[in-house]
Amino acid sequence: MKTMMRDILLALPKTDIHCHLDGSVRPATVLELARRLKVKLPADTVEGLLPFVTVAPTCRSLKEFLDVFELIYPLLRDPVSVERIAYELVEDCAKENIRHVEARFAPVLQETSKFSSDQVVEAALKGLRKGFKDFGTTSSVIVCLIRSHGPKENRRAFETLKRMFRPQSRLEEPAVVALDLAGDEARYPTRDYASFYEEAKRLGIWTTCHAGETKGTENLRTALDLCVQRIGHGIHLMEDQKLVAEVVRRKIPVEIGISSNVRTKSVPDLKSHPALDFHKAGVPITLNTDDRGIIGIDLTHEYEEALALGFTLEELAKLAVDSTDHLFLPADQRARLRRRFESEARAALQKENA
Ligand code: ADE
Ligand code: ZN
Repeated sequence: MKTMMRDILLALPKTDIHCHLDGSVRPATVLELARRLKVKLPADTVEGLLPFVTVAPTCRSLKEFLDVFELIYPLLRDPVSVERIAYELVEDCAKENIRHVEARFAPVLQETSKFSSDQVVEAALKGLRKGFKDFGTTSSVIVCLIRSHGPKENRRAFETLKRMFRPQSRLEEPAVVALDLAGDEARYPTRDYASFYEEAKRLGIWTTCHAGETKGTENLRTALDLCVQRIGHGIHLMEDQKLVAEVVRRKIPVEIGISSNVRTKSVPDLKSHPALDFHKAGVPITLNTDDRGIIGIDLTHEYEEALALGFTLEELAKLAVDSTDHLFLPADQRARLRRRFESEARAALQKENA
């Protein structure tokens, strides 16, 4: 009997390199964290809570999407919560053969007078470490600056990044590796954060940036000028063929989140998503969840959506293997993972005709 397509996609070794830790919390965990911290929620069953912690298809914008996080942040200002959600993320990844996850978050959104930005990151690393021991999925941390934050708050996050950055990390030891800029792109242009990217470049810190998710190509131009190694979403890239040519020439991968883009109305609907156009134009792409908890998806679903867009199974298997080349890890560690992916992807594809 032919194996179901989802089973083949599940079996593919995968990476998730655009994954917000705070957007990946299980709804059941939201409920338990609230009970432990004695925070009142609008509902006290998982079913009742779902409309408040997931984004409905009627969502009209990235801003509306980001508003959902407001209910979750108060539950994450605590070391036990942060360690737990990091651990559970690794467990969820391992269940669908995600072999490496780069978890990103803004430590300043979770700090308190008793829980510093450094401690937020340490708690996450602890959960990721434990997750690796129990489930085998390796991980790294990307520190996010937030567009709506002032220079002082973003400076605090950046100093945490500088203190905790480990460029020579090994796969088995989760470490802080890179800088990102997240939040409401429509209101806050990337050039306002240029000095952080310039400093990261001087220090050898890897960089990615949410850009071209909500409007136009100006933020994409800025991100490329700031020498980012990867671009988050980049949906508007095709509007400027010069930018496309530059991304192809510089081999800058775009971190795609198909369902996220549909939900935030970065694209009007699934069939308008440009992922296949990017691929055909030679733009390196990776498939990612963005916010698996808030959207209510997993990465295997994102591979299914890519099939619906017209990618072949073989193309998806190659994307999964090639994603290892784009990890924020030393080259020898990336190569180790790539070798493993090549043999596991071959085995997964053989299932198709089994
Ligand atoms: N934070 C969480 N998800 C995000 C997204 N898709 N864009 C910008 N910031 C985010
Ligand atoms: Zn994102």
